[in-house]
Amino acid sequence: MKSNSFNLEGKVALVTGSGTGIGRAIAIKLAEHGACVGIHYNTSYQEALQTLEAIKSMNRKAILLQADLTCEQQANKIVDKIVAEFGKLDILVNNAGSPVQRSKIEECPLTLWNQVFNVNMTSAFMVTKRAIPHLRKTGKGSIVNIISLSVQTGGANGAGPYAAAKGALLVFTRTLARELAPEIRTNAVCPGVIETRHHEIFSTPERMQQYKEETPMKRNGIPEEVANAVVYLVSDAASFTNGALIDVNGGRFLR
Ligand SMILES: NC(=O)c1ccc[n+]([C@@H]2O[C@H](COP(=O)([O-])OP(=O)(O)OC[C@H]3O[C@@H](n4cnc5c(N)ncnc54)[C@H](OP(=O)(O)O)[C@@H]3O)[C@@H](O)[C@H]2O)c1
Repeated sequence: MKSNSFNLEGKVALVTGSGTGIGRAIAIKLAEHGACVGIHYNTSYQEALQTLEAIKSMNRKAILLQADLTCEQQANKIVDKIVAEFGKLDILVNNAGSPVQRSKIEECPLTLWNQVFNVNMTSAFMVTKRAIPHLRKTGKGSIVNIISLSVQTGGANGAGPYAAAKGALLVFTRTLARELAPEIRTNAVCPGVIETRHHEIFSTPERMQQYKEETPMKRNGIPEEVANAVVYLVSDAASFTNGALIDVNGGRFLR
C-alpha cells in the first residue's frame, strides 16, 4: 500500500484564532488528516464550540483554549494547556490576526500602531517562543504563519499598520526557518481575498465584487483553500520545504 504523506495521525496541532474563518478551516482540515487539535479563540466562544463539534463529529480529539494573545501570560497558558492535555506539540499555526482598525500612517495613533503589532506579530512571537521547546522535542516540528497579500502590495485604504505587522511576521518566519531547522520547519501562507468575517468587517460588498473582477480566477477564495496549503506545509510531503511562502490568491499577485 502507498503511504499517505499528508497523514497527520498521532500529531498534535495548535491553531490560533480557530473559532472563526480561516483558522476554523485549518483546525478542521488538520483533524480530517488525523491530528488532535487545540482550538484557540479569544472572544468567539460560540464559534469555537462549532469548530469543536465539527472535529468531534469526525471522532477526532480537540480542546478549546481561550486567550487574548496580546497578553504574554495568556499566550503561554494555551501552549502549556495543550501540552498538558495531549503530552506534546508537533504543529503550530499562528493564524490569529486582524487589521483592528483602518488608519492611514500619517493619522495612525501610536496606541493603534502598537495594538496592530501586538495582535498580528507579538502574539505570534509569544506563542512561538513558548512552543519551540515542545516542537523541537518531536524532532519534526512544524510552524506555519498566516501572512497577507498586503506584504507584497502595501496596505491599501488604511491597512498600512496591518501590512507592516504582517511584513514583520514574514521576516520572523524566515528567521525561524534559519534558527530552528532541522528539528522544526517554519513556513508561511499568504492568503489573497478570502471570504470571512474579516471582510464583513473591513470591506464593503462592492469592494468584494471589485476584488473578484481584479483577480485572474474571477472569484474570491474560501478558507478551505488556505487550509489545504497549511496541510501540505505541515505534512511529510513538504519535508524539505523551510522558509517558504505559499500564495493562495487566485493570481491576484504574481511573483
Ligand atoms: N480573509 C482574508 O482575506 C485574509 C487575507 C489575508 C490574511 N488573512 C489573515 O488570516 C487570519 C484569519 O483571518 P480571517 O479572515 O479568518 O478573519 P477572522 O474570522 O476575523 O479571524 C481572526 C481571528 O483572530 C483572532 N484574534 C483577533 N485578535 C485576537 C487577540 N487579541 N487574541 C487572540 N485572538 C485574536 C480572532 O479570535 P476571536 O474571534 O475568538 O476573538 C479570530 O479567530 C488573520 O491573521 C488575517 O489577518 C485573512
